[in-house]
Amino acid sequence: MSFRKDFLWGGATAANQLEGAWQADGRGPSIADVMTGGTAHKTRTLTYVDAEGRPGSIEFFGDLHEPPADSIFEPLPGEWYPNHEGIDFYHTYESDIALMAEMGFKAFRMSVAWSRIFPNGWEDEPNKAGLAFYDRVFDCLLSHGIEPVVTISHYETPLGLVNRWNGWMDRRTIDCYVRYARTLFERYRGKVRYWMTFNEINVMNTNAWLGAGLPSSDPKVTMVAAHHMLVASARAVKIAHQVDPRNQVGCMLTFSQGMVYPYSCRPEDVHKAWELAGRCYFFSDVQARGYYPSYQLRRYEREGIDVGMTEQDERDLAEGCVDYVGFSYYRSTTVSTDPSVPLVDPGSPMSEILGVKNPYLTVSDWGWTIDPVGLRNALDNLYDRYQKPLFIVENGLGAVDTVDEDGTIDDSYRIDFLRSHVEAMKDAVEKDGVDLMGYLWWGPIDLISASTGEMKKRYGFIYVDRNDDNTGSLKRLRKRSFDWYKKLIASNGESLD
Ligand code: BG6
Repeated sequence: MSFRKDFLWGGATAANQLEGAWQADGRGPSIADVMTGGTAHKTRTLTYVDAEGRPGSIEFFGDLHEPPADSIFEPLPGEWYPNHEGIDFYHTYESDIALMAEMGFKAFRMSVAWSRIFPNGWEDEPNKAGLAFYDRVFDCLLSHGIEPVVTISHYETPLGLVNRWNGWMDRRTIDCYVRYARTLFERYRGKVRYWMTFNEINVMNTNAWLGAGLPSSDPKVTMVAAHHMLVASARAVKIAHQVDPRNQVGCMLTFSQGMVYPYSCRPEDVHKAWELAGRCYFFSDVQARGYYPSYQLRRYEREGIDVGMTEQDERDLAEGCVDYVGFSYYRSTTVSTDPSVPLVDPGSPMSEILGVKNPYLTVSDWGWTIDPVGLRNALDNLYDRYQKPLFIVENGLGAVDTVDEDGTIDDSYRIDFLRSHVEAMKDAVEKDGVDLMGYLWWGPIDLISASTGEMKKRYGFIYVDRNDDNTGSLKRLRKRSFDWYKKLIASNGESLD
């Protein structure tokens, strides 16, 4: 057998993308709640009301996400906010978890919605009803023998912190986060052992709103916020270990931005690829090693960035190293110094992030390259760099699914994607000796897309009847991939036919 006996097979989700019930039981609004979506194929916007009461909106992907000073984010009449209802998991979690159990899940990754626990983010006392909800979810998972894997903050910073302090730009947000994290560690001691401090912390490089509730994507702002998050993460790791030495806390990177290929063997292209990968590695270098890497310090000197590092910060970073390295992997990125090389998807709002066209790879309907060997490369690189257990906490294919008249859904393209990625993962484990803890498929049940706000971009093994025009019964249906994944898990990764 190539995989550990206790290999954590399962799936991954985020509260804001599936729970819905955005105002239930004292929950406050988060940065996900002001985003529209679902009607345009590839775009979503942030909406706000400015200081004079005028409504406005900002493109979600763009050079700057800069609302006017003193603006308040709030839902606008006539706009659709898909995260408000999600797929209603808040009310259906029992039957949804039963379906995951039917597939044989060993682990289920979910986030706690920060604003269910601290509605504005800055309160001293937690919201009891919010805490009770997650008790019920964890108890339900454990009753099925499924290990909860919890992300403390997944693209859902409370809006209260954003409106008051511009989110992570302000150092006071560190204390709010640490209070929140301690509350979770103490309350769920004995129920949750696997934690991640921030989802895709390096998304700060490309989407500062999603990553940190920031009104600006200027590195002088984002890198200060990143520092605050790194310190908060380290302090949370220390507390997790104090509260329960059995706690395992990981970092979490989007490694789609770390697996970077040079378009050619031209040395300048190779250097460009190294530099871009470094924007990703910077975060895990700090979280896994406990100090800033030299290339980042030099960059700050060059660009005049002062993150306000204190001696206490340095101590916290050194003492709060993570136990494992978690990462998401959807695609690789290819870069070139030659501006005439075509982009992989010039029409996409994410085109700069997606990089140039790699002639050896195909792409999904959303322009994301499909690169299973890149997953092996990612695992090899990360293990070689840190020598810590790795955890693939997201991998998946967003695609348009069709329900046949008899209710079946033949998503063989999803099975092909899954098979090829598991094969690559086996190679990394068997042939390269990587220590891998588990594999979690993104969105085992269809949910709201983070980047586009669509339902149409489906990842699930379980279909959810909900459409981009806000219609649908929310009924759940098993896709063909459901049974395929079930067999794969039952065989601990051996059944790949
Ligand atoms: C990851 C995020 O970046 O990718 C998830 O952690 C997200 O929140 C997933 O949903 C897939 O991206 P998208 O934009 O297709 O939903």
